[in-house]
Amino acid sequence: MTRSPSSATSPTRVEALYDQCAPTWNARQGLVERVLMGEGMRRALATELRGNVLEIGTGTGATFPFLANNPMLSSFTAVDLSAGMLGEAHEAAERTGRSIRLAQMNAEALAFADDTFDTVTTSLMLCTVPDPARTLWEMARVCKPTGRIVVLEHVRAPNPLISRVQKLLTPFQVRQLGCHLDRPTDRLVREMGFRIEQDTSRFFGIFHMIVALPPERHQRGVIQGVSFTEISRTPDLKQ
Ligand SMILES: C[S@@+](CC[C@H](N)C(=O)[O-])C[C@H]1O[C@@H](n2cnc3c(N)ncnc32)[C@H](O)[C@@H]1O
Repeated sequence: MTRSPSSATSPTRVEALYDQCAPTWNARQGLVERVLMGEGMRRALATELRGNVLEIGTGTGATFPFLANNPMLSSFTAVDLSAGMLGEAHEAAERTGRSIRLAQMNAEALAFADDTFDTVTTSLMLCTVPDPARTLWEMARVCKPTGRIVVLEHVRAPNPLISRVQKLLTPFQVRQLGCHLDRPTDRLVREMGFRIEQDTSRFFGIFHMIVALPPERHQRGVIQGVSFTEISRTPDLKQ
């Protein structure tokens, strides 16, 4: 078993892919968002953000327009690998009139101290990182023990026919966007010991919005180092 990132989703490749598609991203993603996921899910995510918030893989800042109505926010920091996406996010941040701190950073190795944020959030990016488990650990590490993790993600569908189609389409999608359609990320979050407060899904159970407390500190040592691939191979997990 290997923990090395697949070249298909190496940070360098993902950065190049997203730099390239940044100028047209909003038009392309708007369709997925409105038709398949529904804007309501992103709105729901925004209402769960509290205190000092970190968003990883912020992209063009699709969540920013929904922050205005949240009086619970103290600060908002957003990071992404792609300078191109961050350029678009900068414009989106200006449109909100809210102070948003932007930084170019790899979500698998965040440059923040342990227990920094009240909320750590991400949307539609755990499908793209080479190692989602490592990224989730980083989210937990920089989140205060009493803070919350808020994840919006598309996952492997519970329906076997749909999941087969997702599996077939994944190589194409990985080439285009580094994006895996068939990752059971909702299950990964549970298996890693995140304490789920809320898990709502939509569109055949493909889109999930999960609100969770980070895993207990003592649990982290036990599972730390387990990569996504290893977890998905654990025998007691139903495939
Ligand atoms: C599919 S886009 C989603 C963007 C945005 N969160 C949204 O909901 O529209 C995935 C984003 O994750 C970023 N990304 C992928 N891997 C990353 C990593 N290891 N660290 C930081 N950002 C990453 C990409 O650059 C891209 O902007």
